[in-house]
Amino acid sequence: MEIRRVGVVGLGTMGAGIAQVSVQAGYETVGREISLELAERGKATIDRYLSRGVEKGRLTQEEKDAAIGRLTLTTELADLNGCDLVIEAVLEELPLKREVFAVLERVTRPEAVLATNTSALSVGEIAEATKRPERVVGMHFFNPAPVLPLVEIVRAPKSSEEAVQAAYDWAESAGKQPVNCNDTPGFIVNRILIPLLNDCVRVLDEAGVTPEDLDKAMTNGAGWPLGPCALVDLIGIDVHVHASEALYAKLGEERMAPPERLVEMQKQGRLGRKTGRGFFEY
Ligand SMILES: NC(=O)c1ccc[n+]([C@@H]2O[C@H](COP(=O)([O-])OP(=O)(O)OC[C@H]3O[C@@H](n4cnc5c(N)ncnc54)[C@H](O)[C@@H]3O)[C@@H](O)[C@H]2O)c1
Repeated sequence: MEIRRVGVVGLGTMGAGIAQVSVQAGYETVGREISLELAERGKATIDRYLSRGVEKGRLTQEEKDAAIGRLTLTTELADLNGCDLVIEAVLEELPLKREVFAVLERVTRPEAVLATNTSALSVGEIAEATKRPERVVGMHFFNPAPVLPLVEIVRAPKSSEEAVQAAYDWAESAGKQPVNCNDTPGFIVNRILIPLLNDCVRVLDEAGVTPEDLDKAMTNGAGWPLGPCALVDLIGIDVHVHASEALYAKLGEERMAPPERLVEMQKQGRLGRKTGRGFFEY
């Protein structure tokens, strides 16, 4: 199926990034927020990133203007009625996402693909809030969405092959690197990365290593492009702790539970780059 018009529900961190990817790829995009003020804020974020792109010579002023011109804003889910693909990026709360999908199913055409950007919820449980779960898939972007190429295309138990393929093809057409996977906790990257980073943090105390030396060890000994402590600082201690708790709750493996050191850092407000202080100072 051909996707011409895209809807993005929520223009927060991820939604704004996804809407940017969409308009830059040439798609008419409707961004829905809960207030016009938040919608304008999301649009301003996109505008700022694109302006920076112009300054750095990654795109021309004309391309930027055209991209921004493809974005329309609304506070009504009903205004997504003409969209062929809708990507939901609201708060990570199952009842809220189910509520959004129940409305999306009513207002969109039967053939529209409805995607969730959930990190840790079950796509199948979200899909079951609709009468056409076969049109529901996961599209898990990574933060920042305009920069990181990967999109995990998640097939829930009832997702149709056609809906999965349409989401995959759209992601590819938008310049992303999609991969397919099942609807299992953490999908691919988080399932691997979360316990791995938790192991790294535990090694700090177990082996008496400084964060500087741990990063030195993993970049020089394992060829990691970024050390684990620098990576957790970039992700955000709070985001990582939350993701660890979610994965641990689902799979129950001890390695998935957030290490005490990270929980302590979170309590102290040392959240990484965003607060200027995590394992390192910024
Ligand atoms: N931040 C990340 O690194 C990351 C990465 C991949 C996926 N995700 C997932 O993306 C989704 C959004 O995360 P985010 O980081 O952009 O969050 P965010 O807090 O930046 O944005 C949340 C969005 O939800 C909207 N919202 C809040 N209350 C609402 C309501 N009652 N009804 C409808 N919308 C409401 C907000 O207006 C905002 O647009 C989550 O499911 C999250 O798990 C996040």
